[in-house]
Amino acid sequence: MMQGRDGNVILEVKNFNIDYIKKGKPPAHAVGNVSFKLHEGELLGVVGESGCGKTTLMLGITRLLPPAGRITHGKVLFKNTDWMKLSEPQMREVRWRDISFIFQGAMNALNPVKTVGDQIIEAMLLHLPISKVAAQERLIELLDMVGIGSNRKDNYPHQFSGGMRQRAMIAMALACMPSIVIADEPTTALDVMIQAQIIELLMQLRDKLQTAVMLVTHDLGVVAEMCDSVVVMYSGVVAEYANVDTIFNTPLHPYTQELLKAIPDLNRPNEKLRSIPGYPPQLDNLPKGCRFSPRCPKAIERCFLEQPETLEITPGHFTSCHLVEPK
Ligand SMILES: Nc1ncnc2c1ncn2[C@@H]1O[C@H](COP(=O)(O)OP(=O)(O)O)[C@@H](O)[C@H]1O
Ligand SMILES: [Mg+2]
Repeated sequence: MMQGRDGNVILEVKNFNIDYIKKGKPPAHAVGNVSFKLHEGELLGVVGESGCGKTTLMLGITRLLPPAGRITHGKVLFKNTDWMKLSEPQMREVRWRDISFIFQGAMNALNPVKTVGDQIIEAMLLHLPISKVAAQERLIELLDMVGIGSNRKDNYPHQFSGGMRQRAMIAMALACMPSIVIADEPTTALDVMIQAQIIELLMQLRDKLQTAVMLVTHDLGVVAEMCDSVVVMYSGVVAEYANVDTIFNTPLHPYTQELLKAIPDLNRPNEKLRSIPGYPPQLDNLPKGCRFSPRCPKAIERCFLEQPETLEITPGHFTSCHLVEPK
């Protein structure tokens, strides 16, 4: 079975840039020149501090940004089609059929006045060439797959627990058999036990369906355990991008190194997560050089003057740091 980075490239994000526009203010550069490739069945982790642009990036890829968000440059290639060039009706077909979402708060994504079963069936009828009878059969399969008894299909979202709602969201995201699922902090609102179950479920589904997953999370334990590759974002840019073993064993960017140090000692479970001193820069007033330079323990003069390019240091290992030279 092809998995991880061995399969074909299914999505290529190339030099992607997003600004937020505010009246009377300079634009906030929320995503800067992000590039990465997602392969069939790959589980890609996207990590970085809160506010570093993870959600903005995902919304940009699917063209669901709020009105203030502007894609200023870049491509998102899916099977040779640039999603940035599609019309809005074409893009609407792409969502659900080729790419779908699991959001943080399932309650916001599920319609409170419709039964869970009806919502999933509706999504299928709207996006798939499928009969009503076939959609009803598929609903039973889907609910079974995510661990919801099909006897619960006529329940409303409020009759479900948080974990069950998130399972329903997963069923909905998989309903149209997309090749990519975005899971943006899918477990943040859930308690720890349920979080583990949902992550386990996502992994099983990836193995079974070969769906590629972009998992946005700040849980590095989850990344280490389940992801094939990792994009480490800092202040809207890719600090480092490589397969998971490389990120954890030979991190090159000082931000990645600091992030990994911030993992609490596994032998001292009560220790608080250490955070990196200082704050990320203001996106409408970025430093001249590297965006991490004001907080970087290793910064040299050049780091404050010039923005580093993202370079491929060894095959498949990318980083944006003046201190690292390609071999
Ligand atoms: N609608 C918006 N208008 C203006 N700025 C926004 C908007 N949404 C997010 N931002 C800003 O963009 C940056 C990235 O936010 P976000 O993508 O939500 O980060 P993350 O998901 O990594 O926490 C933050 O500085 C945030 O304040
Ligand atoms: Mg977010």
